[in-house]
Amino acid sequence: MLEQLTGHEDPHPIYERLRAHGPLTRDEDGMWVTTGHALTNKILRDRRFGVRYADGSFPDDGSPLPQSFLGMDAPDHTRLRRLATPAFSPKRIDHYRTRVEKVADSLLDSDEFDLIADFAAPLPISVISDLLGVPDADTADFAAYGALVGASFDTGVTPEMADATDKVLALFDRLISERRRTPGDDVISSLVAAEAEQKLTAREMLGTLVLLLVAGFEAMVNTIGNGCRALLEHPEQWQLLKSNPDLAPAVVEETLRWAPAVHLTTRIAHEQVDEIGKGEIVTLIIAAANRDPEVYPDAHRFDITRPHKPEHLAFSSGAHYCLGATLARMEGDVAFRALARRMPRLRQAGEIRYRESVVIRGMRSMPVSRS
Ligand code: HEM
Repeated sequence: MLEQLTGHEDPHPIYERLRAHGPLTRDEDGMWVTTGHALTNKILRDRRFGVRYADGSFPDDGSPLPQSFLGMDAPDHTRLRRLATPAFSPKRIDHYRTRVEKVADSLLDSDEFDLIADFAAPLPISVISDLLGVPDADTADFAAYGALVGASFDTGVTPEMADATDKVLALFDRLISERRRTPGDDVISSLVAAEAEQKLTAREMLGTLVLLLVAGFEAMVNTIGNGCRALLEHPEQWQLLKSNPDLAPAVVEETLRWAPAVHLTTRIAHEQVDEIGKGEIVTLIIAAANRDPEVYPDAHRFDITRPHKPEHLAFSSGAHYCLGATLARMEGDVAFRALARRMPRLRQAGEIRYRESVVIRGMRSMPVSRS
């Protein structure tokens, strides 16, 4: 059923049809699907489910990218995630905030621009470059590679993407060699130190770096894009933000709930769990869980004043809960605050083009004008 969707179509009517069959059901192809918040959250937190099969093998997605801890179960997942965690400490995120504010301000200087290409994309790429220690001279190349890798979610693996992957890996290889000679205060340097202590292999280090690039870029671009579109389509909510920019964090939360960048994920049962057999795959529809009427009254309404208890599942839950969540919330806060302050008359000025992916939901382009 889900495969019938094209990327730009509103999938919620399909999610609602699945919801009518209860929180756990099978789709037309016989695959398990969850739509309820409580069950989706429970499975994400349940150690009897993993992202690989119980024997450690995994469903091959055809991607030429090196495996990362997003696609691993404990104990490898725990070990590798722990090594990347210090980069996301509150102190570091505070340090990035000043930079994001500067970048956001510098991007909002034109009268007519593309919300995605000229604002939502360059903002996170500058943060990730900073976090990973990519020199300014390489940032443009890095952004182009990141965008291509991101596009592969829509197009599948193309020769262009395989080529881009080689280039990203070559860039990371170069940066790793440089940090081996001259360590700095960035993620690559701390991973290089961990490699020297044999806490991870060179291949695992590359996998971690590519994950931080792709995860930190793709989901963020679409969150900023989806939030802006939601605000422009709901003028009364846009007005609320403009009259009180301190509502920017609430815009981030409601965007994550109502229009999450990542609509679904999957887990595999490592043993029989109730009706789900060992080795069976469950598709967890985060976007449907986020509109569960049992949890969120009037769930299809975009309302930045609603309470978010329990938290939406846009950042997933359990062992793979988004490592960049605090950073993402800060970036979103800065982005929406800057738009409200600098572009109070922002309006759509051309046709929106949507992404084609069924998993990553958002816009490819949205022309806007500041007046
Ligand atoms: C608003 C933007 C973002 C959203 C919606 C988002 C969403 C997610 C989701 C849904 C997952 C888990 C997928 C699963 O359980 O199968 C995840 C994992 C992850 N995210 Fe994010 N993310 C965002 C921003 C970021 C940023 C800015 C970074 C860092 C630069 C980041 C780094 C990661 C990492 C490293 C993981 C893997 C965690 C693990 O496997 O333990 N994310 N994210």
